[in-house]
Order: sequence, then structure tokens, then C-alpha cells
Amino acid sequence: MKRLAVFASGTGSNFQALVGAVTSNDLHAEISVLICDNLHAPVLAKAKQAGVPVFVFNPKEFASKAEFEALILEQLQFYKIDLIVLAGYMRLVGTTLLEAYPNKIINIHPSLLPAFPGKDAIGQAIRSGVKVTGVTIHYVDKGMDTGPIIAQKAITIEKDDTHSDVEAKIHQVEHSFYPEIIEILVTGKD
Ligand code: GRF
Repeated sequence: MKRLAVFASGTGSNFQALVGAVTSNDLHAEISVLICDNLHAPVLAKAKQAGVPVFVFNPKEFASKAEFEALILEQLQFYKIDLIVLAGYMRLVGTTLLEAYPNKIINIHPSLLPAFPGKDAIGQAIRSGVKVTGVTIHYVDKGMDTGPIIAQKAITIEKDDTHSDVEAKIHQVEHSFYPEIIEILVTGKD
């Protein structure tokens, strides 16, 4: 069974969905460790509850990205990680991890990339007036949400939709779509 490291910075609803998919046997992989860059992130309690080991660090205590990524890399090697799954990790991945895990780092982004990369993709979509947005799962490269696209799913923005309405639609898609695509990647079945 392939071993996953999930990277998250915040709420962790996607982390929770991945844990759920493993428990329900829809995702045949092990979530071996949660990597978190925020000591106050709600995802930490979710990992504890699920019995997933956590490596949490404060980036401000390091002189550079290379320094904290070296520590992350030690963890990934310790847990023999096959695939890195970013799920709301609010940070660009640096060369240390990109070179150690070529084509083995994926991300989920709440827009149909290449539209609306970066922060508040949902707000960007609403403000731009588009009627369709969605979710992109992609490989991670050194850019901001620029790596090769693996899969996408669309949702519609209705006239009266608020930010939280759109966010709820996006999350609903994400929570089944991410486990589904990761299952394909880890089992090689299409
Ligand atoms: C998700 O919408 C994901 O697309 C984006 O960050 C959000 C994380 O939400 N990259 P959560 O922490 O998984 O609830």
C-alpha cells in the first residue's frame, strides 16, 4: 500500500475527507503523516483524532525554506512516503522537496486553473463574474498553482451565490474528487 503525507495549514476538511476515504476503503493508501506549518491549525486536532502522526513546525523559526524543508524531508524519508498530497498548504514548495519527490507532489486548488491561481481563488472567481468555476488537481512545480493538470471538475456560480455558497459547492466536490483521483494515482487503475 502506498504511503501518503498530507500537507495542510488550516481547517483540514480535505484531510478529514481523505481519512474518511481510507476508513471506508475507497482509498487504498495509508496516510502516514500530516505535515503542518501552523501550530494553531484546526487540522491538528483532526489528525490526533484520526491517529495520524503529525509533524508541525513554525516557519518563522527557520532562516530559510531550505532549512525547514530539510526537516520535512527527514520525516518523509522516515515514513517512506510515496506521494505528497497538499491539501490547503498555504506555501510554495521549494527545491529541496521538489527535487526529492519529482512528479510525486500533488495539490488541489479551488478554481479551474489556469484561471484564478493563488489566494482566494473563490473570491477572484466571484469578483470576475464567471458563471462556472471548479476544482483542479495538479502536479506541483515551483510556480504558484502552475504544474501539469491531472483532473478538473466544474461547479456553477448562480446569481445570488455568496462566497460561502460557492465555497460549500467547491468543498463538496473536493471531498470526493481528491480521494477518487488519489486512488487512481496510487493503484494505477483508471
Ligand atoms: C481547499 O479549498 C483547497 O482547494 C485549497 O485550500 C482549501 C483547504 O480547505 N487549496 P481545507 O483546509 O481542506 O478545509
